[in-house]
Amino acid sequence: MEYKINGNTDGIKSVLLERMKLLYDMSIPAGEFVSKELLGAVAEFSGSVGREVSVYIGRDGSILDVSVGEAGKVRMPSMRLVRNEDRLCGVRCVHTHPNGDGRLSGVDLGTLMSARLDAMCALAVNDSKPGDFYAAFPGGPKAEREALIFGPFSADKLPDGMLLEQIKLADERLKSPVKEVCDEEPERAILVGIENDEPYDTLEELFKLADTAGVRTVARFLQRRRVPDNATYIGSGKAEELSLAASELEADLFIFDDELSAVQTRNLEQLLNVRVIDRTTLILDIFSARAASREGKLQVELAQQKYRLPRLTGMGASMAKMRAGVGMRGPGEKKLETDRRRIRRRIFELQSELEQIDKQRRLRRVRREKNSVPLVALVGYTNAGKSTLLNALSGSDVLAEDKLFATLDPVMRQVTLPGKTQAVFSDTVGFINKLPHDLINAFRSTLEEVSNADLILHVADISSGYCDKQMRVVEDVLYSLNAGCIPRINVYNKADAYDKELPLPQDGILISALNGTGLIELLERTEKILNKGQARVELTVPYDKYEALAVIRSAGSLISEEHGENSIHIVALLDEAGQMKVKRILDGGA
Ligand code: GTP
Repeated sequence: MEYKINGNTDGIKSVLLERMKLLYDMSIPAGEFVSKELLGAVAEFSGSVGREVSVYIGRDGSILDVSVGEAGKVRMPSMRLVRNEDRLCGVRCVHTHPNGDGRLSGVDLGTLMSARLDAMCALAVNDSKPGDFYAAFPGGPKAEREALIFGPFSADKLPDGMLLEQIKLADERLKSPVKEVCDEEPERAILVGIENDEPYDTLEELFKLADTAGVRTVARFLQRRRVPDNATYIGSGKAEELSLAASELEADLFIFDDELSAVQTRNLEQLLNVRVIDRTTLILDIFSARAASREGKLQVELAQQKYRLPRLTGMGASMAKMRAGVGMRGPGEKKLETDRRRIRRRIFELQSELEQIDKQRRLRRVRREKNSVPLVALVGYTNAGKSTLLNALSGSDVLAEDKLFATLDPVMRQVTLPGKTQAVFSDTVGFINKLPHDLINAFRSTLEEVSNADLILHVADISSGYCDKQMRVVEDVLYSLNAGCIPRINVYNKADAYDKELPLPQDGILISALNGTGLIELLERTEKILNKGQARVELTVPYDKYEALAVIRSAGSLISEEHGENSIHIVALLDEAGQMKVKRILDGGA
């Protein structure tokens, strides 16, 4: 195939056009989103011709087309784009902005969506050198004008893995069924986060949280920055850029991925002109909408009020300035004080009511302990599959949804293990990265079930690319609940969706709660730990070997005895040493 530079090449010297053809030989190595060398070369060409240069890259890394002129406006004769409604075309476009501003324009985003590109990326060019790099990906199935935008990144330090993963995620989003249209238009949100060195796509999680709350994401911005700005979290320059995006994308709301201080929220609302909330507020809202029991509702409200109290200062600060005169309190200040007092009173009421409920729970626990039914607590990251596992183990019907925090109220189910040991399994609220502190405190009494458990099953989603990180989050919460020393089985769930090429974890059990793989092994291991290494044995003890019963009683526990004509049929729990002792007595007389 003859290489060709397409688009508006008028007036460009043929020597330069010949050199530009070398771009076709700069295929992208596997595992890279776009190479440093290619960015350097396009920046140089774009700088010397003073026009945009676009490079179209296939999924295999090959360079399919090079064009000069505004991306999306030029024809691409050598490349046939697949314009399928439910599939991306498998081609990403990297183009330059020779004016030195890397931000993606409305035309760029329009081209991304209409051509179903894998990604549309813009590279700022300053003095023929690469500057800021931005990337946008299609955001949802048939969603109008929805693009997820990441950047700015420095051209020599692109997060290749994360950007490649975004293509995969965009593909999946496109294939997923279109959400039902509801009468009320959902709120349109822009998600904003700071990218640090953790290889963890925290905005993907914020996106799922927003989805769970019924909010439609219209764009995501990830900023590389070491520490958040005290006044505006993202810096005022970035805020200006976001404000433009908000009006372009008709956003109603900004959701920030970290807890914002009162001052940051106020400043951001002033700069962005739309409502601003943070991750904690979003999580608390979801909890509030999902809490079903009286206790759950009270716990969430307590967390919400505690979160609001210190933030009232900020919200009322501007009103407080409306002083009537020296020594006199203005209306804003008075209002602020009344509001604070009201919240403190409510916090007190909520705490008293929760204490009452807690007392009743303690009574129930004492009753259960008396009956000596061991407790097995299922814990895990949100969406790991705890409810599905509890359903599979107990044949019950606990709500299991592909939504975060489907389970808020603790659910208990009695399960008979293979050796007939009875155990109560409890499903508790899922954990999440940056779980609000007030929420952990408010749910502490519910979570105490975990610290009182005889065994913890730590359910993890092995099919998630972030399984390790999620398990660490759960471990941290367990330690903060003083549950770090309780016997534990790591239960790696969703084996059916696990990539067979990857190595299997060695320290637990691989299961699929959905298709039942590994469940028997899990129950057997559970029973063994609960019985402290004791196994269920059935024995026939002749009446003249009656002393065997005394050994069984002291070394293990007797489950049942049935008296026959010449012997007693015994069912007992015994460890190996106990079994040997009894065997010696029984064999000795035989
Ligand atoms: P929270 O209530 O958020 O704590 O979630 P959870 O841990 O109780 O998860 P849940 O049981 O609600 O499952 C979450 C999603 O994972 C659902 O869509 C389940 O169908 C799915 N899921 C659970 N187990 C499996 C499994 O073994 N394989 C696969 N492929 N999906 C699973």
